[in-house]
Formats: sequence, C-alpha cells, structure tokens
Amino acid sequence: MNKKFAVPRGTSDILPDAVSLWEELESRARRILKTYGYREIRTPIYEDINLFKRSLGQTSDVVNKQLLELASGKEDEGYALRPEGTASIVRSYIENSLDGKESLSKLFYLGPMFRGERPQRVRFRQFHQIGVEAIGPNSTCSYLDAEVIALAMHLLKDLGVQEPKLKINSLGSKEDKTTISSWLRGEFVKHKKDLCEECQSRFDRNVFRVLDCKNESCCKVVKVVLGTDLVLPLSPESKQYFQKVQAVLKDSGICFEVSPQLVRGLDYYTHTVFEITAEKLGSQDAVGAGGRYGALVHELGGHENVGGVGFALGIERILLASGQITSMPSGLDVFVIAMKEEYQPQAFLLLQQLREAGISADMSFSGGSMKSQMGRADKTQAHFALILGEEEIKNNTVALKDMRASQQEILPQANIVEVIKNRLK
Ligand code: HAM
Repeated sequence: MNKKFAVPRGTSDILPDAVSLWEELESRARRILKTYGYREIRTPIYEDINLFKRSLGQTSDVVNKQLLELASGKEDEGYALRPEGTASIVRSYIENSLDGKESLSKLFYLGPMFRGERPQRVRFRQFHQIGVEAIGPNSTCSYLDAEVIALAMHLLKDLGVQEPKLKINSLGSKEDKTTISSWLRGEFVKHKKDLCEECQSRFDRNVFRVLDCKNESCCKVVKVVLGTDLVLPLSPESKQYFQKVQAVLKDSGICFEVSPQLVRGLDYYTHTVFEITAEKLGSQDAVGAGGRYGALVHELGGHENVGGVGFALGIERILLASGQITSMPSGLDVFVIAMKEEYQPQAFLLLQQLREAGISADMSFSGGSMKSQMGRADKTQAHFALILGEEEIKNNTVALKDMRASQQEILPQANIVEVIKNRLK
C-alpha cells in the first residue's frame, strides 16, 4: 500500500458537518459586529517577518518561539505566516492612509492564524480568530475601550459561551511603561537570584512578564516589590483613565475583576488590557483577549496621534466552551430521480434549470434503483424528490414528492421550476 498522508500536527480538517456549525457561528458574529458599526477587512495570511518582530516584541513568546517563517529564497526578504491580526491590520491602516479618510476605523476580521506552539488540547498551530480593531487619530477614550470589551462579551454570550469571566488591568501610558519598567528592573535586580531562569533571562528586555510568572519564588518577589495588592505605580492620568473605563463597564452591567498581574504576552499594549476565560477550557486558557495599543501605529510608521484598541477571540475555543450553538439543518431543496438511465438527459436538464433558478438540487449520476435513489434523497434531507419514470417521460410530467409531508402529485414538466419556487417561499 502507498504511504498515506496525515494532516500536519497542530492543525485539523473541518469536515462538512462541522462547517455548517462554523458558518452559523460566523454569520451570527458578523451580524453582531455590524450592529456595533464594524466593517470587515481581509489581509494576507503572511507578511514581512519584521512587521511581527517590531510590533509584538522581540522578547514575546510568539516572536521568539512561534513564528512560522516562509523561505523567500532572498537574503534581504523574509516572511512569516501571521500569528495574530493586529499587526497586519495596523500595517494596512497605515498603508491605505485610513486616518485621512475617516476619524475612526472600526474594522473586524475572521480567519486563520499560525503559531508554532507545542500542540495541546486547546493550543493549535493553525487556529482561527474573530477580531476587531478600532483605530483613529485622538481616539484614546475610555468609552471606546469599554465598547470593545462589551462587544467581546456580547459575542461570547451570543455564541453560547457559558459564564465568560472578564479580567482587566491597566499598564499605563507609554511613558508610564518606560518609568515602571526601569523602576521594576531596579527592584527585581535586588532579588535576581530568587527569580526563575526564564524571568532572569527576560527581565532586562521585558520586565512586565515577571509579573505574571506562575513560579512560586517569582510570585513571592513580585509581592515584595509591589506589595500584597500588587498595584502598579501608574501616573494619576493613567489611573483616572482606568477608573473611567471601570465606571463605564459597571454602568453597562458588565461584571469584571481587576487583575493587577494581567500583563499580556504581546509588547504593544498600553493602558487597558483584558482577558476572558471560560470554565470548560481550564484556568490558563483564554477564550479571548485584547487591549489598547497607544504607540503601535507610530512605531510602524503611522502618525503619532493615532491609537487603537481591539481584541481577538479564538473560534476553536468558543466552540469547545459553548454548549448552545447548533447549526441549522442544511438540506437540499430538491433531489432529482431518473428511474432509468435513458431518462438521465431529461433529469439533468431539469437539475440545471432548478439550480439556475436558485433552487439547491442534486441527483445520482450513477443511477440505481428507486429505493436507493430515494435513500439518497433522504440522506441529503431534500424537501422535494422530483421523479421521472416511464409515464412522466411519456406525458411530459413529473412526480413531485414532498418528503416532509409524504405527499406525491403528478404535475406538468413545463412550469415545474416555478411551482417548486413558489412552494419553497
Ligand atoms: P492573543 O491573546 O494572542 O491576542 O490571542 C487571542 C485569542 O486567540 C486567545 O485568547 C485564544 O482564544 C486564541 N488563541 C491564541 N493562540 C491560540 C492557539 N495556539 N490555539 C488556539 N487558540 C489560540 C491576540 O492575538 C491579539 N492580536 C488580540 C488583540 C487584538 N489585541 C488587540 N487587538
């Protein structure tokens, strides 16, 4: 036997039965996203590798360990499959000068992302995200942060995720992050020997990641440095901004927990960050996450006053965490049956006429007995079976069987497409 191929590790096929579930999820999501004024954007699945290195941060796990690079064959060129959407959307925003066209661009995207992770139950190498980015000049506004968070929660609830839990935090402005970073470094250096190997190696370049390290000894150091309530020393303006975000969320009836250790794994965040978990996924795996990125647009060559905020939800994780979403039955409208091989040309003509009229239809090209063809009509969940037998061919008629009502009648062939169209209304 010839060797069979298997799907690459960490990826999976989405077979037709599951696709109808995905279609239902995507169409519900699109409807909600549009009610919040977001418009869809589609960008390539690969980009210049330096776009990801510059935006997500050289020390982030995604850039350090998980970028799936493409061989370009040229020394000065390098590409990588996109590990997330934000960098590509900001690249496109700048390249297409969207800031000159609208004061706020509310964009959403749906599609595959790629990370070279060690595959686990809810960690894949190819996974899919639904994401939004709201980007614009002078758009740093606590209402926009709250709207984006409210939208993420709305989507998850509508898509059947039970009791999603929201954690939020603030990393402060870009200036706060610089001040806090050097202060934290100064403090952590006093306890360097108590930090785990990974934190010792990363605290020079991304000291914030020490704050969410799960290692017991690192947690103790963090408590010594920040105090037991672990609050970051934000500037009064950043504190006030974060309090306003919390007030808007409270007024909108959105439950949340402030989690001072939530720092996120990507470098571009400033001010508000958030993460949403769902019970069925286990405590460490988020169903979605996001936050504000005040300096990213400028760092990628755009104008200094342009900021953004957004999130991404993992579709595979939504499906795992949701108990409720079900797909609509997607049966055919008509299954055409030719009772003898010589009736097939007439049957094929009718089949094409039905399809051209927008009626979904199919037939068995390999023929077979009436019983086996009716069996196939059942399997396709067809609403009608349109049968051509000897009498029908002779009289230019068809037998039309309503499979749901189990009723059959003989009708003229001439206007059968119109008749079926009216009955399907
Ligand atoms: P992220 O936290 O890296 O953020 O990913 C967002 C979501 O994508 C996660 O919460 C999870 O549901 C899903 N996800 C991530 N990696 C995997 C994986 N290997 N397998 C399955 N699902 C996964 C971002 O991607 C940011 N771009 C979010 C954002 C948008 N921030 C601002 N705007």
